[in-house]
Amino acid sequence: MTAEASVIEVELESDLKNVEVAEEITRRVSGTVGFSEDDQHKIDMAVHESVINAIWHGNKNDPGKHVWLRFQMFSDRLEIRIRDQGNGYDPSKLPDPLAEENLLNVSGRGIFLLRTFMDEFRVEGIAGGGTEVILVKRINSNNSAQSRRNEP
Ligand SMILES: Nc1ncnc2c1ncn2[C@@H]1O[C@H](COP(=O)(O)OP(=O)(O)O)[C@@H](O)[C@H]1O
Ligand SMILES: [Mg+2]
Repeated sequence: MTAEASVIEVELESDLKNVEVAEEITRRVSGTVGFSEDDQHKIDMAVHESVINAIWHGNKNDPGKHVWLRFQMFSDRLEIRIRDQGNGYDPSKLPDPLAEENLLNVSGRGIFLLRTFMDEFRVEGIAGGGTEVILVKRINSNNSAQSRRNEP
């Protein structure tokens, strides 16, 4: 891989059918970068949750609104941006899904999961409207294929 990051961008209509499309592309990208099966699965789940949130909470299922996925592959990490056309949210204000009163809730676990699966998670407002979720997975984090290859 060169020092320049390579970029893949995809634009999706707000249709839940496109969640599968997003996952398929994610699987190809993370496989190419060299993540372990386990990490690929985690990245998959994180994108799955983020794209559903973008369509559902961000774009409110409005078929006229779109979701943009951007994969940027660096030599040490994969950065994924999921952008919607909604008003955004503050992830620090979300209820804790592990609090006793929330344990039986079926919703409210997506962000919690993707925080555990990824090395970085941020939400940014876009000038002119929209929201972008930024997910980062480092290539040498815990048990990725690359770090195993580097073991003596
Ligand atoms: N893209 C988004 N735009 C606006 N709000 C969002 C977005 N993603 C998540 N949220 C807010 O964060 C909450 C928690 O998201 P999540 O943990 O995925 O749980 P769930 O989707 O089951 O509600 C959502 O209920 C919603 O209020
Ligand atoms: Mg969700």
